[in-house]
Amino acid sequence: MDEPGFRTIFEPFRIHSVEPLRLTTRAERREHLRTAAYNLFQVRAEHVLVDLLTDSGTGAMSRDQWAAIQHGDESYAGSPSYFVFADAVRELFPFEHVIPVHQGRAAEKILFSVIGGPGRVVPNNTHFDTTRANVEATGAEALDLVIPEGLDPTSDHPFKGNMDLARLEEVLTTRGDDVPCVFVTITNNSGGGQPVSLANLRGVREVCTRFGKPLYLDACRFAENAWFIREREEGQGDRDVADIVREIAALADGMTMSAKKDPMGNIGGWLALDDDDLATACRNTLILTEGFPTYGGLAGRDLEALAQGLKEVVQHDYLRYRIRSTAYLGEALRDRGIPVLSPIGGHAVYIDARRLAPHLDPLEYPGQSVAVALYELGGIRSCEIGTVMFGRRPDGTEVPAAMDLVRLAIPRRTYTQSHVDYVIEVCEALAERVDSLPGYRIVDEPRALRHFTASFEPIT
Ligand code: F0G
Repeated sequence: MDEPGFRTIFEPFRIHSVEPLRLTTRAERREHLRTAAYNLFQVRAEHVLVDLLTDSGTGAMSRDQWAAIQHGDESYAGSPSYFVFADAVRELFPFEHVIPVHQGRAAEKILFSVIGGPGRVVPNNTHFDTTRANVEATGAEALDLVIPEGLDPTSDHPFKGNMDLARLEEVLTTRGDDVPCVFVTITNNSGGGQPVSLANLRGVREVCTRFGKPLYLDACRFAENAWFIREREEGQGDRDVADIVREIAALADGMTMSAKKDPMGNIGGWLALDDDDLATACRNTLILTEGFPTYGGLAGRDLEALAQGLKEVVQHDYLRYRIRSTAYLGEALRDRGIPVLSPIGGHAVYIDARRLAPHLDPLEYPGQSVAVALYELGGIRSCEIGTVMFGRRPDGTEVPAAMDLVRLAIPRRTYTQSHVDYVIEVCEALAERVDSLPGYRIVDEPRALRHFTASFEPIT
């Protein structure tokens, strides 16, 4: 069914096992907020009605993934489950070495501890927070080189995740000796789940080849990125998504992966690369921190589930539903006058809280205020991506982040259109009373990554 011919977004699955959602009252949620010091990471998940905190590890596995789990072989070394997993990875990303890890940041930690270090600089379109933190933890510098449109919340550029090739070339010309590799994140999560075009990836490859630098992908949402290429890039509309993914992989020398996103896992990741010496060094580090190279911090059953997930995520019916259903939410909010980052990304809708609540100063955390109000009003858990997350500088000063966003991330195959319609209704009700939302102040915060554990109170 390539073109269903009807407008309804067809969810290409039906429900086989249900998880109850317990309804809560507004009074109860007010109490939960007080207990959590207005930090949504501190709210118990059973007190959430629709959990849009993240799309990472929160998706529903399929019948066939649960069946694959029964094939898990838990041998310490050389498990057949490893080979099933490595073959499934290579079917899409034909790299020589496939090294499993427990999640994406473990792959980052291992790779950058080998190739990073003081004086080094790693260019990326936009580093995700853990990627940046793992680069910086080695003393290296993490440089974001996304195109200018990628920083403009109103630009409708179809590939806002693209790397600025001129700036990349400039960095390689002036600081080439310090660059161990170039990274591209597909899709660009920190920039709003925006895709990178095939043409841009080919351009990055050409620059890397000219300067003799390896190209790595942070490929968590590779299938969503490939679907956007098929939909938006000239000459790509008739291609099989798996084929586009293989072409992307062929442009790169290696990848890090969080298998908690497109590979449909609840846990997992990998590091894959062609360079034999680098792979040996990474495996040696892996043994110290993750485990033996044929399981890397995962159970054999996890490896089997991921192998099956990789087959499912490149199916066109799934990707059409996935991208359309995210756009459905974003478009509905936009139609109701709620400012959202455009174009709508693959895995999430980002509300522009600074524009929605202009009465709040960025240092009163408009994103936090909107996120707390969504929970209080309708039990919806979202994630502030703004001044709370990025405002504290390493020197202790506080400045407004570039944007104050609230991310509504959509877990894969988990919520129905009715749940999404409910989210739209709650957002609309919130927009009607947005003038009355209070700002927040932080009363206690840790030294780093404060958004996870800080305590807040409303400014009355
Ligand atoms: N790279 C990107 C682009 C990511 O979005 C994430 C995680 C990681 C790396 C790290 O992977 O969590 O498996 O260690 N993003 C999640 C999110 C946490 O909510 O966007 P991980």
